Amino acid sequence: MARPVTAAAPAPSARWWRAGVVQAVSPPGVIDLGPGYLEPGLLPVDTVLPLYAEALTEFGPAALGYGANAGADPLRVLLADRHGCTAEEVMVTAGTSQALALLCTALGRPGRSVVVERTCYDLARGIMTDHGLRVREAAADGEGVRPDALDQALSRSTDAAFVYLTPTFHNPTGTVAGTPRRRELLAVAARHGVPIVEDDAYAELNLDGTGPPPSLAALAGGRGVIRLGSFAKTLGPGLRLGWLQAEPDLVSTLAHRGQLVSGGGLNHLTSLAVTMLMRDGRYDQRLSWLRGQLRLRRDALVAALRAGLGDEVAVARPAGGFFLWLAFHPRLGEASIAAAAARAGVEVARGSRFGTTTGTHVRLAYSFHPPDRLAEAAARLALAWRNEDPLR
Ligand SMILES: Cc1ncc(COP(=O)(O)O)c(C=O)c1O
Repeated sequence: MARPVTAAAPAPSARWWRAGVVQAVSPPGVIDLGPGYLEPGLLPVDTVLPLYAEALTEFGPAALGYGANAGADPLRVLLADRHGCTAEEVMVTAGTSQALALLCTALGRPGRSVVVERTCYDLARGIMTDHGLRVREAAADGEGVRPDALDQALSRSTDAAFVYLTPTFHNPTGTVAGTPRRRELLAVAARHGVPIVEDDAYAELNLDGTGPPPSLAALAGGRGVIRLGSFAKTLGPGLRLGWLQAEPDLVSTLAHRGQLVSGGGLNHLTSLAVTMLMRDGRYDQRLSWLRGQLRLRRDALVAALRAGLGDEVAVARPAGGFFLWLAFHPRLGEASIAAAAARAGVEVARGSRFGTTTGTHVRLAYSFHPPDRLAEAAARLALAWRNEDPLR
């Protein structure tokens, strides 16, 4: 059981952030660095509030009808312009999780396999296994999956439905694959004739000014890659809105699945509300503000951890996304690291949750607390982990 070290004043959002309304609520006093969520204060309530009225005014009853199966054209066109493809290559989704579930049913069959990076977004694995797919891991390095490991995994898994990769601001490791690496991965997958599902949930959250390399989809000219985007990390997950980019034939196939034919385009009214935000620059303004906020949080956590832990723990500074991936000396076990953190009133995500790791790791999210709380969490962790290590 996590024991609070200091009594913390309730966050201003406590009135709203309630169990039974949102997915995760931490016990009072515990600083939870586990979930990859935006802090409640970073969720744009005031910005989103008028968007529904704007959409209803502009589209009238059509905003409350069944939406076009692949999503409403105004949003598809905006997304296509933004991501350098055609509107026929874009489908509106109810977020990456839904898109992935749809792809598992459309591309996979129970018993077939999916090749993933050895350490990857654990909940994506859950979606795949829910569909009876078998998850096969490929080894990775500081740029994500290694092309030779992907080649080996695909040679062994001749029934692979797709390869699932997060080449940009990876969850949990924060890594980014450079352009040459991306080209090599594309060549390997093309040689095996297996599509890549590119999970780009964090792609717009570059924190150091320079954007990431071109997406796999862009490098492949849209062939053989299905790119998944989400507004969950840039606006708010409660919108349940995202998009996918794929070859027009696949978009058409997906849009003709029974779920879409029966229910129409996903989150139709919300998609029109977000159209209002994207078309006049308000989305880009929001993004640059959010990047600044996340940069403050990342830097506060990295600085406080480095100050408290010195060289004892490798604390890499990711160029974007939500997460720090800490590497501990192997003499320390993951269970004792996590237990010491919990005793100090800080929750962390254990590395093994994300698949096979080499060494001892934990993931810390810097997205879910303001900088002063992150600094306090780091101070608690440094004390706890220094006391935990008997060999120091
Ligand atoms: C890599 C990755 N993909 C997808 C998601 C979930 O996306 P969505 O909320 O759009 O379903 C997350 C959220 O943690 C994530 O880290």
